[in-house]
Amino acid sequence: MKILITGATGLIGGRLSRACIEGGITVHYLTTSKEKIQDKPNFKGFYWDPASEEIDSKAFDGVSKIVHLAGASISKRWTKSYKQEIMESRTHTANLLFETLQEIKHDVQYFISASGVSIYPNSKTKLYTEESTAVDSTFLAEVVLAWEAAADQFKSLGMEVTKVRTGVVFSEEDSALQKIVAPIKAYVGAPLGSGKQWQSWIHLDDIVGIYLHCIKNNLEGVFNAVAPNPVTNKKLTKQIAARLDRPLWLPNVPGFILKLVLGEMAILVLRGQLVSSRKIEEHGYVFRHYNLESALDHLL
Ligand SMILES: NC(=O)c1ccc[n+]([C@@H]2O[C@H](COP(=O)([O-])OP(=O)(O)OC[C@H]3O[C@@H](n4cnc5c(N)ncnc54)[C@H](OP(=O)(O)O)[C@@H]3O)[C@@H](O)[C@H]2O)c1
Repeated sequence: MKILITGATGLIGGRLSRACIEGGITVHYLTTSKEKIQDKPNFKGFYWDPASEEIDSKAFDGVSKIVHLAGASISKRWTKSYKQEIMESRTHTANLLFETLQEIKHDVQYFISASGVSIYPNSKTKLYTEESTAVDSTFLAEVVLAWEAAADQFKSLGMEVTKVRTGVVFSEEDSALQKIVAPIKAYVGAPLGSGKQWQSWIHLDDIVGIYLHCIKNNLEGVFNAVAPNPVTNKKLTKQIAARLDRPLWLPNVPGFILKLVLGEMAILVLRGQLVSSRKIEEHGYVFRHYNLESALDHLL
């Protein structure tokens, strides 16, 4: 099998590419950086510049499935122009793939796109499944809606479409976990806001495992990609501190301070959704890291 990955040079895409190659799947990838182009027997890069609608259509040669992971980071300051980049790096890129497939001969039958659990409203007790139609009122929810709509247009080309609503990914590399760990290591860690907001996290091994599982089994539709045991921000902070053998002596960081420092981005740490992993498990995926303890033992 040969697949095309956008965002293959990122956290999830890098690990997914390696897992594909190890599993005998050839990877083509589209990158916006010419210096990231490699040309190996099972891993071949192609250039695209979505802003000017430039794309190397050789990237689609022999490809039967597309994995769309490209997207500007959401953890840089949300200025007006950067918000536009967050949105368009997901939707315009999907549109460019869609328009290109309409113009060339190809064998693509399956399109799987990253998506986010931030589509669901903030919740303390409500558990969100993929059936939920409630949509949050934040900028991130707006992005997810447009991103999923951009993915859905591939259905009109007769393709199967899958959207992976991903929780916050924890890994040993540069990830959200490292940003939480740093102040705790430096003895200045504390829960954020009320500390009661849910953190629907997932280990990098499992998000990669879920993509592979969907690709290999042609799973179609929406899937939440979160570990089966979400934790509150307070529990997460406490467990990391215990794992690192650091005291937590400061009071919670008040929400208004986080809003002052982070602006609109504060929703990333002050809001949270309780999200169900049941559907992907019912479709045969077996998590490697069910609990935070297991993930932290592996990552810290
Ligand atoms: N990591 C998480 O916690 C998490 C949670 C929920 C959803 N997701 C989503 O899953 C996807 C992959 O996540 P990730 O953590 O692997 O992301 P990442 O490490 O930030 O990598 C994303 C990739 O997207 C490409 N990219 C960045 N800015 C772009 C732009 N303006 N236009 C086109 N391409 C651009 C880059 O590839 P090139 O430089 O090669 O072009 C980059 O390597 C993202 O869409 C992300 O929003 C991630």
